[in-house]
Amino acid sequence: MIFHGCLAPFITTRLHRFPRENVEIQEVREQKPGLCFLFSDFWSRVCLVKSRGFFTFAIQTLIMNEEVYVLKIGGSVLTEKGKERKARKSAIKRISKEIALALAHTAEKKLILVHGAGSYGHPQAKVYLASRDAKDALITHESAKELNRIVTASLMESGVKIMPIHPLSGVVFRGEEPKYKIKEQIEVALETGIVPVLHGDVIMDEKEGFRILSGDQLVVYAAKEFKASRVGVGTDVDGVLDDEGEVIRKIMPAEVDKVSLKGSEHVDVTGGMKEKVHLLAKLASENSISSVLFNASKESNVYKFLTDDDDLFGTVVG
Ligand SMILES: Nc1ncnc2c1ncn2[C@@H]1O[C@H](COP(=O)(O)OP(=O)(O)OP(=O)(O)O)[C@@H](O)[C@H]1O
Ligand SMILES: [Mg+2]
Repeated sequence: MIFHGCLAPFITTRLHRFPRENVEIQEVREQKPGLCFLFSDFWSRVCLVKSRGFFTFAIQTLIMNEEVYVLKIGGSVLTEKGKERKARKSAIKRISKEIALALAHTAEKKLILVHGAGSYGHPQAKVYLASRDAKDALITHESAKELNRIVTASLMESGVKIMPIHPLSGVVFRGEEPKYKIKEQIEVALETGIVPVLHGDVIMDEKEGFRILSGDQLVVYAAKEFKASRVGVGTDVDGVLDDEGEVIRKIMPAEVDKVSLKGSEHVDVTGGMKEKVHLLAKLASENSISSVLFNASKESNVYKFLTDDDDLFGTVVG
């Protein structure tokens, strides 16, 4: 650990020069695949020291310690929620650039990106919830995927390596909660320097056929599963507002019921701000993971979130 401490600045500099190209990890995995199964994580790394030298060990240790950030960009930012299937192309482009720039400067951080469905999901899901017709569920899914394609194309254009993950193909609702079968895809993406991009979607439900899974639920899942060190939720408002319209700077989980929260001004089948804040409060109380709600419609806020800028204005939950 002392060696690691000494080498960290040097290695970090090297990684910054080659952002998100974890060549060393891939090489090690290809050469010694069996060892990682035979030994605990620590001992397999000690073996790597012997077989590949101290430098590899130091890089492995550094990557093991990398921080996972979970960021959701709300449908209220990416789309016009008052309309149907209307994307805000300029906001999507700007946010893609901010993400690309931030990742180029923070190669030691891993990002799981989630986006909401906005006008590509809520109005369509409302139709499904009224009809309970499988055809309407699939229309909702196709529409949410269409927004995902717009977002991922923009991210790629900005130079971000991404992999879309569609919840319908990897999450199923059984018993009382969603069962997530997407851990390994996300894991491999993070290991190989790729940003997994998840989105609000319909999922299969053993009782009802289909149900809606919100981007906010995916944020909580990803934050818990990958022990996120930073969780951010961007919407079209500056944070959680009180009755006077002022931003509440901090909400303690135990006090969440005292905050007067409404859903959304637009069609939002997943509970809008109220459900969002309750989910995040639960994440904080049960897993000690706090989060920040900020305005992603405002320029540079996404960049500020990803680069830990103290200047980021919003509501901290937890
Ligand atoms: N107390 C509150 N403070 C702030 N916003 C609130 C409050 N109560 C309700 N809202 C509404 O919540 C909205 C944001 O939540 P909403 O679910 O609509 O957006 P989103 O999560 O970005 O969209 P999506 O669900 O498509 O991802 C705001 O636009 C605002 O109208
Ligand atoms: Mg919402």
